[in-house]
Amino acid sequence: MEPKIALVTGASGGLGTSVVKALLDAEMTVIGVSRNITASDVPHPSFVALPGSLSTLESSAALVDGVIKRFGRIDVLAHLVGGFDGGKPIAGSDEASFRAMFDINLFTAFYVLRAVLPHMRRQQGGRIIAIGSRAAESPGPGVGAYSASKAAIVSLIRTVALENGKAGITANVLLPGTIDTRANRAAMPDADTSAWVAPSSIASLIVWLSGGSGSDVNGAVIPVYGAGG
Ligand SMILES: NC(=O)c1ccc[n+]([C@@H]2O[C@H](COP(=O)([O-])OP(=O)(O)OC[C@H]3O[C@@H](n4cnc5c(N)ncnc54)[C@H](OP(=O)(O)O)[C@@H]3O)[C@@H](O)[C@H]2O)c1
Repeated sequence: MEPKIALVTGASGGLGTSVVKALLDAEMTVIGVSRNITASDVPHPSFVALPGSLSTLESSAALVDGVIKRFGRIDVLAHLVGGFDGGKPIAGSDEASFRAMFDINLFTAFYVLRAVLPHMRRQQGGRIIAIGSRAAESPGPGVGAYSASKAAIVSLIRTVALENGKAGITANVLLPGTIDTRANRAAMPDADTSAWVAPSSIASLIVWLSGGSGSDVNGAVIPVYGAGG
């Protein structure tokens, strides 16, 4: 059987690195997208680095078209690109910062979905997994733009699930709590990390949703808050 083709966006990030490894371990061919990714980031014969930005529909479509030209299909889309900006209440927020959260957390998802879905519909199959955040369901003060943008991706993925289930495509969104990444450890050196979520747990869930047992799970919004969450 041909290996599955998995497109991972945000592949060089704290979570992306684990997701790429888990999909490679599951014997998929993995195409990793980020603006600065290089082949040497993941020295593995089944890994392809695809540098580029998901900041416009055109750039996203060009990246996806490149994958289709080379591999003919995309079986799995793991959309991990996202960003965080907090600290300001809405009363003191400027429009540019608010919009920036929607650009990275919502519009990148729309662009890549808009580019990938026609191919998955043609194939009559595909698995889509996107990353929201616990903040989508539990917003906190000072993180309004982030929480709203992550709530929006939840709604977007649920819509995609409803629109494409009959074409054999599943779409699910994971809501992690704080992930145990190097960047978070550096940013919060005094935090109690025992409640943080291991990137490998999220990666395993993505592999499961991409496999045979995941075929009946569509439109799920899955909390991954850690054992104490
Ligand atoms: N870390 C957490 O505690 C946490 C908690 C809840 C949810 N999440 C969510 O989980 C996901 C992964 O988080 P993370 O901690 O792994 O983030 P990260 O370390 O900041 O990684 C972000 C990734 O996205 C890429 N990227 C950023 N902008 C891009 C663009 N315009 N086009 C293409 N690639 C772009 C980055 O690489 P380049 O710079 O090379 O482009 C990098 O690979 C995000 O959606 C995040 O919101 C994270």
